[in-house]
Amino acid sequence: MFVQQAIAILDSGVGGLTVAKEVMRQLPREKIIYFGDTARSPYGPRSPEEVTLFTEQIVDYLIQFNPKMIVIACNTATAAALEHIKKKVSIPVIGVIHPGARAAISATKTGRIGVIGTVGTINSGAYITALKELNPAIDVESEACPDFAPLVEKGQFETPEAHLVVEHSLQEMKQHPIDCLILGCTHYPFLKRSIQAVMGPKVKLISSADETAREISTVLYQKGQLARGNEIPIHQFFCSGDSEMFNKIAHQWLGEQIELTPIVWQVSTPS
Ligand code: DGL
Repeated sequence: MFVQQAIAILDSGVGGLTVAKEVMRQLPREKIIYFGDTARSPYGPRSPEEVTLFTEQIVDYLIQFNPKMIVIACNTATAAALEHIKKKVSIPVIGVIHPGARAAISATKTGRIGVIGTVGTINSGAYITALKELNPAIDVESEACPDFAPLVEKGQFETPEAHLVVEHSLQEMKQHPIDCLILGCTHYPFLKRSIQAVMGPKVKLISSADETAREISTVLYQKGQLARGNEIPIHQFFCSGDSEMFNKIAHQWLGEQIELTPIVWQVSTPS
């Protein structure tokens, strides 16, 4: 029997669903296997070594499903582990930082770009490197927003409390004359409405989801691996922690009931 090979997407939690949603929209024939490491989220405050270890463990788990591609839909894990994972597996591995940087470069008119992300992503300097590689003249302001991802994981992205946190965290970024702000964490599109309200209508918000889905499509096309046929794919979702909250958020974000298999994670879960 022919079994369609899936695209494996991973994140520390629900953030990668922002990428999964865009993949579903752009490539509706593709089957997705999603893993959210909700038991060990957030990754932002963890060391690059620990994030690399966790990413490697998830990739080992996902590889058993024989995916055709791995998408690290987490900026923190992309910054820490992309190059390592690329060397480890023989299938294509895509991260979210270069797609996000490319999208911002094509959107900016003034060459002044802001980046917000987790402490891990901002401290890695990965966005500055990616942006300057594309255009050395670009002016970049970056800032960590460590409170955002935990809010989203709790399902609080449309609440007045969440809006206050966003308002408080972006006070400094708001002072910079940027015309684009990269949402350098896949959790942040959940807070898009508040972020846009605080930054004002002149600042364009850039999420890496669209561009990442485009890159997935390009790589699969080049390899002749795009899904064919008219079958509607049945996606699979796994999470290592609270499945009730994951389910609720996924349902809300994707607008459809999902089939979720909570897994009992076999490895240690440091606090
Ligand atoms: N969604 C992740 C990112 O893009 C990480 C959030 C976290 O776990 O701190 O960086």
